[in-house]
Amino acid sequence: MMYYTTLLSLLVLPAMSKAFKAYSAPFSLQAKDCILPANFTVSNFTIYTDSTDSSKNYTKFSYSDAATGIDTLCRHDSASKPGTTANSWPCDNQNVSFIYDAAKPTPELSLIEIACPESGGNFEATGSVYPNMTCTNSTSDSTCIAQQGSTTGVFVSLEPMPPTSR
Ligand SMILES: *[C@@H]1O[C@H](CO)[C@@H](O)[C@H](O)[C@H]1NC(C)=O
Ligand SMILES: *[C@@H]1O[C@H](CO)[C@@H](O)[C@H](O)[C@H]1NC(C)=O
Ligand SMILES: *[C@@H]1O[C@H](CO)[C@@H](O)[C@H](O)[C@H]1NC(C)=O
Ligand SMILES: *[C@@H]1O[C@H](CO)[C@@H](O)[C@H](O)[C@H]1NC(C)=O
Ligand SMILES: *[C@@H]1O[C@H](CO)[C@@H](O)[C@H](O)[C@H]1NC(C)=O
Ligand SMILES: *[C@@H]1O[C@H](CO)[C@@H](O)[C@H](O)[C@H]1NC(C)=O
Repeated sequence: MMYYTTLLSLLVLPAMSKAFKAYSAPFSLQAKDCILPANFTVSNFTIYTDSTDSSKNYTKFSYSDAATGIDTLCRHDSASKPGTTANSWPCDNQNVSFIYDAAKPTPELSLIEIACPESGGNFEATGSVYPNMTCTNSTSDSTCIAQQGSTTGVFVSLEPMPPTSR
């Protein structure tokens, strides 16, 4: 029960405070000899939109988590297969996936990294960054790139993976 209380407070905290709080690991994962996802870097976040041919649209960026040793490309285009979490798209390293919600007042890029995959981890860490985009538009297309170039985000929650995920 204490465990679920902790998860609940993790879900609620980010909404309440502006300062990012890292999560605390559940007992079952503390016992494992693995590095938990703590923070991540998103680089060169880019959204390309074609005015007429939606098959050319894409969203892409580079993802790295130096602590867990992941360095991968993330890309959503017309050939992408959806991830298990709703609206998520897997990166080349499928231990990582992302959700981009452009409809939010401050568009949000959420990253999901499976915790301790090498020890059969069934928890996933989630955190968000809010890329500030600059667009170059023409009549035929639009390319929007994050001004920050590279942004570090903090994983604020660690939750059991949805049952359908594995
Ligand atoms: C990222 O996490 C590592 C520990 O894994 C810590 O040493 C580092 O200071 C953190 N960096 C940021 C920008 O939060
Ligand atoms: C981001 O893009 C710049 C310019 O194209 C490139 O030099 C840099 O290596 C890229 N960074 C990553 C992490 O891919
Ligand atoms: C994809 O492309 C189509 C046609 O160019 C455009 O109308 C649509 O808004 C684009 N979708 C996204 C998610 O940007
Ligand atoms: C996910 O992590 C596991 C354990 O480190 C690794 O064996 C596997 O190759 C990773 N998956 C991908 C697609 O890289
Ligand atoms: C986003 O970019 C605009 C225009 O350059 C700037 O006014 C604003 O402060 C930036 N916001 C953040 C969060 O960087
Ligand atoms: C450029 O295109 C993006 C969508 O691709 C749109 O959000 C933005 O408002 C456009 N900017 C201008 C100046 O038309």
